[in-house]
Amino acid sequence: MLVLFGATGDLAKRKLFPGLYQLAAAGRLPEEYAVIGSGRHSPGTDDEFRDQVREDLQESVEDLDEDVLDDLIKKISFQTSSADDGSDLSKKVRETEEEFGNEAKRLVYLSVPPTAMKDMVAMLGREKLTERARLVLEKPFGLDLESARSLDAALKDVVDEEQIFRIDHFLGKEAVQNILALRFANGLFEPAWNRESIESVQIDVPEDLGMEGRGSFYESTGCLRDMISTHLCQLLGFVALEDPGTFEEKAVRDAKSAAFQDLQPLDPSRVVFGQYDGYRDEDDVDDDSEVETFVAIEAYVDNDRWRDVPFYLRTGKKLAESNRVITLRFKNSASSMFNGDTPGTNELVLELSDDPKIYVALRAKKPGPDLDLVEATMKLDVGDAAPEDKPLEAYERLLLDVLRGDQTLFTRSDEVDRLWEVCQPVLDAPPTPQPYEPGSWGPDAALELPKGGWHLHG
Ligand code: BG6
Repeated sequence: MLVLFGATGDLAKRKLFPGLYQLAAAGRLPEEYAVIGSGRHSPGTDDEFRDQVREDLQESVEDLDEDVLDDLIKKISFQTSSADDGSDLSKKVRETEEEFGNEAKRLVYLSVPPTAMKDMVAMLGREKLTERARLVLEKPFGLDLESARSLDAALKDVVDEEQIFRIDHFLGKEAVQNILALRFANGLFEPAWNRESIESVQIDVPEDLGMEGRGSFYESTGCLRDMISTHLCQLLGFVALEDPGTFEEKAVRDAKSAAFQDLQPLDPSRVVFGQYDGYRDEDDVDDDSEVETFVAIEAYVDNDRWRDVPFYLRTGKKLAESNRVITLRFKNSASSMFNGDTPGTNELVLELSDDPKIYVALRAKKPGPDLDLVEATMKLDVGDAAPEDKPLEAYERLLLDVLRGDQTLFTRSDEVDRLWEVCQPVLDAPPTPQPYEPGSWGPDAALELPKGGWHLHG
C-alpha cells in the first residue's frame, strides 16, 4: 500500500508516477498493491485523477506499454486529507488494506513542503498510519538546525529511525554511486585520494533552468537549503568518506556521517549568494525578495585525509549550462624536471550526468624534437562499458530500495543534524545576494572563490 501525499504535485508528476510505472514495467512491484494519492485539494473523482495520471505518463514515458499502464492506473485512487484531519484517509487506507489481509505493508510518501512536514507527521501518528509503515520524506528536512531537530523529535515520537527513508535523490543517481566504484574498486585512484596529492575539490552543479513554477517553494527555502545543505553536501560526503569496507547500509552511512562530523561549520565570508535578474518578477516571488538563487561556498573537512584542502561547492538557477561535475585538482608533481613550467591543470573530472563520463586532464610530451609539454585529456564514457545495461532513474531506484527496506542511499538523522550545524552560520548571517545575469556563471565574486578558477568555466 502506497500512500502518496503531494500526489497532484510536480514531483509526483515528473518523477514518482514515472518511477512507479518503470518499476511496474520491470516486474519489480509486488503482485498486489494499491496507490492512494492524497493532498488538501481534490483533483476531482477517482476517475478524473486516474485520467490525469494516465495522460501525464503518456506524455513523459517513452515506449509506454499500455497493458502495464492500465494495470497501474486501476490501482490508483485519491482521498483528500490535511494535517488537521486525516480521518477519511485513515478509513480509506484500512478499507483498502482489508482486501490484502490486514498485515499489508505501508509505504507513506510525504512529498510536502518543509513547513508542512511536522504537522503531517503528527497526523500520521494520530491516525496510526505509521504502524507497519516505511515513511519516505522529501528534503529539505527542516529549514534550519532548530526546525530540523523539532521535525526529528516529531518523527521519533511516531516511528523508529529504521522506518524513516529521507530521500536525497542525488544518491539514487547511478553516476553518484559510481564515485564509490571508482574510488574503491581501482588501485589507481584511492592512494592519491588525500591531501598529499589533491590541491582542491570542486562540486559544481549549475542549472540552466529557472523557477519552473516553483517560485513560492523557492521563496521559503532558497538555494542553500534546496541544493547545498542536501544534494551537494551528499556528493561531498561520497568524495570525502573513509573506506566503508562494504556497501551495506550501516557501514556506508557511518562513513558518510563521520565525514560530515569533520566538515567544518561554514564561514559566511567564504560564501557568495546570488540572485538572477528577473527573479523578483517570477510568479509568487516578492518584489523585494532577498532569496538566493545561486550559492558558492568554500568548505573544509578537518581530518587527516583532507585537512586544508578546500572543497568548493557551486550551484544556481539560470546559469550558463546544466551539469553536475566533481573535479579533483591535483597538486603539481614534486619533480624539478619541468621547473614547475607545466601547462594547464592536472585534474580528475567526474561528470555525473545521466550519461556519465570521466576525464583525466594530464600533461604529455608535445611531439617534436624537444621535451615540451602539451595538455591532454583521457576520456571514459562510462555507458560504453556496458551498453546493454539500462540505468535506473534516481527515483525509480530509491522507490525500489524503500520497497526492499534498504536504507543505504537514504540520509540518516545524525547526518541531517550535522549538515544543519555546518550551514547554520550562513543562515544566521546570510550574505546579501549579488545580482547576476541569466545565462551567466553567477556573480563575479563567486568566480574568484577557488584559487585557479572553476573547472567549468566562468
Ligand atoms: C531538486 C531541487 O531536489 O533537484 C531542484 O529542488 C533541482 O531545484 C533538482 O533543480 C535537480 O535535480 P536533477 O535530478 O534534475 O538534476
